[in-house]
Amino acid sequence: MKRSRTFLPILKETPAEAKIVSHQLMLRAGLIRQTSSGIYAWLPLGLRVLKRIEQIVREEMNRAGAIEMLMPTIQSADLWRESGRYDDYGKEMLRITDRHDRDLLYGPTNEEMITDIFKGFVKSYKDLPKNLYHIQWKFRDEIRPRFGVMRGREFLMKDAYSFDLDEAGARASYNRMFLAYLNAFARMGLKAVPMRADTGPIGGDLSHEFIILAETGESAVFCHADLVDMPPPGLDLDFDADLQLLVDQRTALYAATDEMHDEAEFAHIPADKQLSARGIEVGHIFYFGEKYSKAMNAAVVGPDGAERFVHMGSYGVGISRLLGGIIEASHDDNGIIWPQSVAPFDVGLMGLNIDKPGVAEACEDLYAKLQAAGLEVFFDDTGERPGSKFATCDLIGLPWRVVVGPKGLDKGVVELKCRKTGEVEELTPEAALKKLIQTRATI
Ligand SMILES: Nc1ncnc2c1ncn2[C@@H]1O[C@H](COP(=O)(O)OP(=O)(O)O)[C@@H](O)[C@H]1O
Ligand SMILES: [Mg+2]
Repeated sequence: MKRSRTFLPILKETPAEAKIVSHQLMLRAGLIRQTSSGIYAWLPLGLRVLKRIEQIVREEMNRAGAIEMLMPTIQSADLWRESGRYDDYGKEMLRITDRHDRDLLYGPTNEEMITDIFKGFVKSYKDLPKNLYHIQWKFRDEIRPRFGVMRGREFLMKDAYSFDLDEAGARASYNRMFLAYLNAFARMGLKAVPMRADTGPIGGDLSHEFIILAETGESAVFCHADLVDMPPPGLDLDFDADLQLLVDQRTALYAATDEMHDEAEFAHIPADKQLSARGIEVGHIFYFGEKYSKAMNAAVVGPDGAERFVHMGSYGVGISRLLGGIIEASHDDNGIIWPQSVAPFDVGLMGLNIDKPGVAEACEDLYAKLQAAGLEVFFDDTGERPGSKFATCDLIGLPWRVVVGPKGLDKGVVELKCRKTGEVEELTPEAALKKLIQTRATI
């Protein structure tokens, strides 16, 4: 993408309304723009990151055997009357009336709708287990939308729903999601800790929140420090195997959110390992058994010929919140530091004194070759001052920067800089190309 042809509205000043660094940087780097309270337009750069995060989550869901579909944003109130949640949900639900005076709502979550779809088709235990998910916008009329995309009113969520014949099956489904989440967050460069959590309005008795530690996090959390650096299960995990042991290893150490915190249990952790911190909830998984299947009559015939209600779980990831979470975890004074797996572009290509002989040509040549190799390139082909180009490249957080200038070209080299380490090296354009291709191959 050439800068001269894209839409990148960088802000010079830090907007006063933004209280936390991720929100400030998302506005300054031209990722989002608020259109009304808690509702954001995704500008081109922000959309690129959003799509990449979405894709990582999609890949890890698919790997774990979940099946993608897409449900609408608008739902019928009748479905929610069946489950009894229409009245329970309260003011967070945006209720809508259509021209025929029918009650609709903008979906805050999809347990009812998916249960209704499921029961329309699945009648036998032979079709179980099933895990269906979608990645769709949600609306919750939050009383205090804040921190930008962290707590919006309209936000993008991946929500998956599992259906099993019995509790044992449902726990196996839960375990698959538990471990798939750890892989997905690790791929985004995040250390997410699963913590025992309250089930809230979803209901049920088994629940974990996936928390990334950050001072600006909304939740107070308590855990054993060793959990933070525990490696993810790995992408070669066999999701057909019994995963209980792997889950047990990760739930054996203490980790709980505020609502579930047990001071006495926490005190048993060696003092130097007691971590009391703040965190951002990026995912939340629930096992709630027959809560919705019973209320909405979703039953299947078991192997013995008897009908029984399916056991369900639901599994959410805050896709749009993750942008804020990743920035909170990865930035410096100059701007965002995107992990390459979610970066809007792999590399910023900067031409210095682009009007000097040979510079534009060398840039175009490298631009074409990088793109041909599958890299996403942000080519700053404008006539801006070098300092300003560099500042923009740092602000928008591209993992690599290649500078092509007349002095270097005389020596046959370009300058390659790593955003994360700050390391700079001079390389021939070919060597820089090779190195960048390698970085892309390893994510
Ligand atoms: N208002 C919001 N803005 C952005 N993301 C949200 C919001 N509410 C929930 N999420 C994301 O969706 C995930 C699933 O939501 P859920 O656990 O059902 O909501 P809550 O934690 O508010 O009860 C959360 O873990 C979070 O990452
Ligand atoms: Mg939650």
